[in-house]
Amino acid sequence: MKRDVIIACDFNSAEAVYSFLDKFTDVKPFVKIGMELFYAEGPAIVREIKKRGYKIFLDLKLHDIPTTVKKSMAVLSALDVDIVNLHVAGTSEMMKAALEGLTRPDGTRPLLIAVTQLTSTSEERMQKELLINATMEETVAHYALNAKNSGLDGVVCSPLEAGIVAKACGEDFIRVTPGIRFADGDVGDQVRVTTPAKAKELGATFIVVGRPITAADDPVAAYKRCVEEFVN
Ligand code: C5P
Repeated sequence: MKRDVIIACDFNSAEAVYSFLDKFTDVKPFVKIGMELFYAEGPAIVREIKKRGYKIFLDLKLHDIPTTVKKSMAVLSALDVDIVNLHVAGTSEMMKAALEGLTRPDGTRPLLIAVTQLTSTSEERMQKELLINATMEETVAHYALNAKNSGLDGVVCSPLEAGIVAKACGEDFIRVTPGIRFADGDVGDQVRVTTPAKAKELGATFIVVGRPITAADDPVAAYKRCVEEFVN
């Protein structure tokens, strides 16, 4: 899979996202639509951005009983998105049902990736509150393997975990990594961050970059800097 940069379009209205995307005149970046924009604008925003020619990662992180996830995935698949996701914690039965729901009548489907442990969950809270008696690294590797064995295409993880996931699941298993900051940029609320160049070195397949691009004085230049460091 070719490395690429995905822009997290964390806006709360259609106007805000269109005025942002309209700045990109000579490139069509891969974009991520998350819960905020989807809940604000509904599926219409996905159809419109797709119609404008962008590849879309629809980041809704499904986690429910298998039948509900299967039927919901069929709806998302019909939106013609490129990547969707769910939580490994729903277990293999839910992940397999999701794949069935995603598969279109012609046999094609969006890529399906999984959240292992949220990067906002500390090892201490995972052990105390979720009663997982293992290290974060062991848990992420085990969850990634569950996703792979259920037929999924990859996981969302910290760039710092990309190597462990590649080792457990193979080089072809996709690693999508948020928590990206430029060496000279603001960290904001992210804790474990790496630069685009470091994410490449650590083995990420896609980097998800939000504020370093969306809040930059020149978002197009910031995007191109990410591509320069991570893809080229
Ligand atoms: O602005 P920033 O670059 O921090 O945005 C990162 C994006 O990746 C946000 O949309 C955030 O919700 C998402 N994300 C994350 N950590 C995860 C999963 C998703 O930061 N573990």
